[in-house]
Amino acid sequence: MKGKFITFEGIDGAGKSSHVEWLAESLRARGLVVQVTREPGGTELGEKLRTLLLNEPMHLETETLLMFAARREHLARLIEPALARGEWVVCDRFSDATYAYQGGGRGLDRAKFLTLERWVHEHLQPDLTLLFDLPLDIARERIAVASRVLDRFEQERADFHERVRQAYLERAHANPQRIRVVDANKTLESIRKTLEQIVITNCL
Ligand code: TMP
Repeated sequence: MKGKFITFEGIDGAGKSSHVEWLAESLRARGLVVQVTREPGGTELGEKLRTLLLNEPMHLETETLLMFAARREHLARLIEPALARGEWVVCDRFSDATYAYQGGGRGLDRAKFLTLERWVHEHLQPDLTLLFDLPLDIARERIAVASRVLDRFEQERADFHERVRQAYLERAHANPQRIRVVDANKTLESIRKTLEQIVITNCL
């Protein structure tokens, strides 16, 4: 059986990351080999690029190119080999995040996004993307109580995050087969039940 590529997406504070490891564990309990990874990051070089991307001010196109540079490395070293071995890959963010943050949030020209997406992974898209959606004020509240140093993206104003959210929803609307919107304003238990149903229906 060929491996599956599942990605998690959503605005900062949507709570997706707490479900990534849980989903991987529940897939492992079914006997599958699962790699858990994230973007930007996932490789040694990618994690170095992540530190730059989350902390250093830079031009929008530099930011976009570095996101895709980290992604190229991630695909070549981790994602593609794992899928070829028949393993599953569960990844916290992928190109939909570039579409939403650099495109929606910062206004990157969509044609430039499409050029890079085609260059870096023309023949690969996630088999399934779980988009965690919730109202901005609730997400902002969750970030505020996290009491840690906020990264460059988390520090952005509310209107930036609203544009990110809308871009994600627009992308989901355009790709209804691949991107499933999950209401993240539910209990942990109810979200997990939903995730399990979506994954079973779409991937197993
Ligand atoms: P994380 O907090 O979910 O690990 O993601 C790190 C930040 O990077 C998050 O605020 C979203 C941002 N990001 C982009 O702006 N573009 C991208 O392509 C990716 C993968 C992440």
